[in-house]
Amino acid sequence: MDISQLMFRDGLMAGERILVTGGGTGLGKEMAEGFLKLGAEVHICGRRGGVCEETAEELMSAHGGKVVAHGCDIRVAEAINDMTDEIWAKHGALTGLVNNAAGNFISRTEDLSIRGFDAIANIVFRGTFYMTHNIGKRWIDEGKRGNVISILTTWIWNGGPFVVPSAMSKSAVNTMTQSLAVEWGRYGLRFNAIAPGPFPTEGMTKRLAPQAESTEDMNRDGTNPMGRIGKMHELVNLAVFLMGPGAEYVNGQTIAIDGAMYNATGGNFSRLGEWGDAEWQAARDAIEATNAKDKAKRTV
Ligand code: HXC
Ligand code: NAP
Repeated sequence: MDISQLMFRDGLMAGERILVTGGGTGLGKEMAEGFLKLGAEVHICGRRGGVCEETAEELMSAHGGKVVAHGCDIRVAEAINDMTDEIWAKHGALTGLVNNAAGNFISRTEDLSIRGFDAIANIVFRGTFYMTHNIGKRWIDEGKRGNVISILTTWIWNGGPFVVPSAMSKSAVNTMTQSLAVEWGRYGLRFNAIAPGPFPTEGMTKRLAPQAESTEDMNRDGTNPMGRIGKMHELVNLAVFLMGPGAEYVNGQTIAIDGAMYNATGGNFSRLGEWGDAEWQAARDAIEATNAKDKAKRTV
C-alpha cells in the first residue's frame, strides 16, 4: 500500500488492540499495516504461522510498534480459545476484530465434492462465527466495548455463480453482521462489513483467476466502470473509518468498495459459463498446485 495515502491523523488508533484473521497475507496484511501505522497494537493469525511471523517482523521493521503473530486455524473452536486466552493474558483485551480469513476457489458446482464445499464453508461460515462468538462473549462478560468488521464480497447481494460455497457463506456472515449489530448493540458492540470488488492478491488471483498472467488481468475485460482494480489504501481507509474512533454510530452496515462494478456488471463470475471441460480442468490443476504449496507451509 502507498502508506502516504492514509487519510487519518497519526495516533488515531492508539490504545486499540486489533486482531486481523488471515493478517499474514493479502488484504489482511494491508489492513494490519494501516492500523499499526495509526498507532494500534495488531495481532494477526493464520495456519501458516511462519508467514504470520514474517509479516509481523516486516511491518514492525517498517513502522515500529507491536505486531504479534499467532498460528491458529479458525475452523477449530478450541484453537481460537487458546489464542484469545493467550492474547488476554499476555497483552490485554482486544478492542477490535477483523474477520478477514477465508478460503475460496472457482469451480462448477457440479464438480464440487462435499469436502470441497466444507473446505470453504468451514473457514468462512463456521470459522467466522466461532471467532466472533468467542471474542464477543469475552467483551460481554467483561463489560467492554468492541468492534467487528467482516470482509465479504458483493456476491452477497446477487449470488456468486462458480463460487457458490463462498457466496453462501459470505451471505451468512452478512446476516450475522446485521443480526448481532441489533442483538449486541446494547452491550456496546458494533458490527459492520466491507464488500470489496477486485483488489488482486496472490491468494485470490491464484484461486479465482488461475489463468491470469498478472493482477491487472482481473480487469482485462474492461468491465469496471472506473477502468481499474482497487488500490489497497482505498480499502484500508474504509477499514480504518469503520474500526477507528469517530464514526461509532455506523452499525449493522455492509459497504461495497468496487468502483461500482457490482452495479454495472453484477461483479461476479457469470462469464465463466463460457468455459468447457478443458478450461475447468486446467483451472483445477493450477488451483490444486497452489493449495498444495500453501499447505506445505502450515504449522497448525
Ligand atoms: C474443485 C477443489 C478445488 C478445485 C480444492 N478442491 N480445490 N474442488 N475444484 N479447484 C477440493 C479438494 O479436491 C478436496 O476435496 C477439498 O476441496 C479440500 O481440499 P484441501 O486442499 O484438502 O482443503 P484445505 O486444506 O482445507 O484448504 C482449503 C482451501 C484452500 C479453501 C481448499 O484453497 C485454502 O486454504 N485457501 C485459503 C486462501 C484462499 O482461498 N484465499 C482466497 C481468498 S479470495 P476431495 O473431495 O477431493 O477430498 C476470496 C474472494 C474474493 O475469498 C472475491 C473476489 C472478487
Ligand atoms: P489471501 O491472501 O489468500 O487471504 C486469506 C487469508 O486467510 C490467508 O492469510 C490465510 O492464511 C487465512 N486463512 C484461511 N483459512 C484459514 C483458517 N482456517 N484459519 C486461519 N486463517 C486462515 O486472500 P485475500 O485476497 O487477501 O482475501 C482476504 C479476504 O478478502 C477474504 O475474506 C476474501 O474473501 C476477501 N475478498 C478479497 C477480494 C480480493 O479481491 N482480494 C475481494 C473480495 C473479498 P493461512 O493459509 O496461513 O491460514
